[in-house]
Amino acid sequence: MLSVTLRVARFTPKPERPGRRRGGSPFGSKSPFGGDGSEARSNRVRGKRWSQDYIVRAHADDSVLDCLLAVKREQDPSLAFRYSCGHGMCGSDAVSINGTPTLLCTAKVRDWARPDSPEYANEDGFRPTGEPLDSSEHAIDLDALDPDTPLVIELAALPGFPTRRDLIADIDPMLDQIRKLKPYLEAKNELKTTAEGKVNVFEYLQHPDELARYELLSNCIACGVCEGSCPVYAGGEAFVGPAAMIMSSRFLNDSRDAASQARLAALMGPDGSAACQSVRACSMHCPKGIDVGEELWQTIQKVDAAKARLQ
Ligand code: SF4
Ligand code: FES
Repeated sequence: MLSVTLRVARFTPKPERPGRRRGGSPFGSKSPFGGDGSEARSNRVRGKRWSQDYIVRAHADDSVLDCLLAVKREQDPSLAFRYSCGHGMCGSDAVSINGTPTLLCTAKVRDWARPDSPEYANEDGFRPTGEPLDSSEHAIDLDALDPDTPLVIELAALPGFPTRRDLIADIDPMLDQIRKLKPYLEAKNELKTTAEGKVNVFEYLQHPDELARYELLSNCIACGVCEGSCPVYAGGEAFVGPAAMIMSSRFLNDSRDAASQARLAALMGPDGSAACQSVRACSMHCPKGIDVGEELWQTIQKVDAAKARLQ
């Protein structure tokens, strides 16, 4: 068993006074990226912020989520964090661990605990394109350390989104961006009818090679890890964001979809593909193994080609 300190960046919001609305562009009431800013949410929620340490006994193979659940059960029921499936399927528990966006339930103590000393500060920052995704390669060899070495894991809410409480970020801006790009199939296919003329079944024929073009992208769980890593996204007003673009790419790559032109047109605005700077930090920790930066690059090329055809 290890003794691990969870250093949690906590936050309790101050209730908003009725009739006061903050948010939107700090430079004017009208957003340059569409809309009049009336639907903008505040990214600067006011409240009390502090850092709190919780010491837990954990096995190296426990997840960080297990540790937080133990804290909630045994030490502090007021600590707020979000989770659901507990095994990397729902995407609801993305946070920043040691400064890196990732999922609580798939992050192991073994990979993230490090001695509480500046010598072991996290240098995992942005990954140059082409480096492997495996976070365990940055793990400290816990067995080689003195058993009394104090270990720490730093936790904060997912960056790039307003924090609502403790480790809970408001990912609604990302979900709104995804919705805007119509994340559903718009197929033109033969409508099969029965002998009596009643609708029987829609038939969507597809070759396995065509399925392979979007299958991996369809695994996206909208966790927001890529958005939290993206230095351009930060709130979503200036850039539609990698998660929404991945959803759009998924349908652009789908041979059954008949709305490609509209999908490409939706990405032609200043907050669309042109806002992506190809930093590729989004590829770093996608829990579904999607090379987000590369997929975005492929989509940017399609948008540029569609723009050229229009000129
Ligand atoms: S692309 Fe990956 S990191 Fe981004 S939202 Fe989807 S699953 Fe999460
Ligand atoms: S709890 Fe569902 S992905 Fe982590």
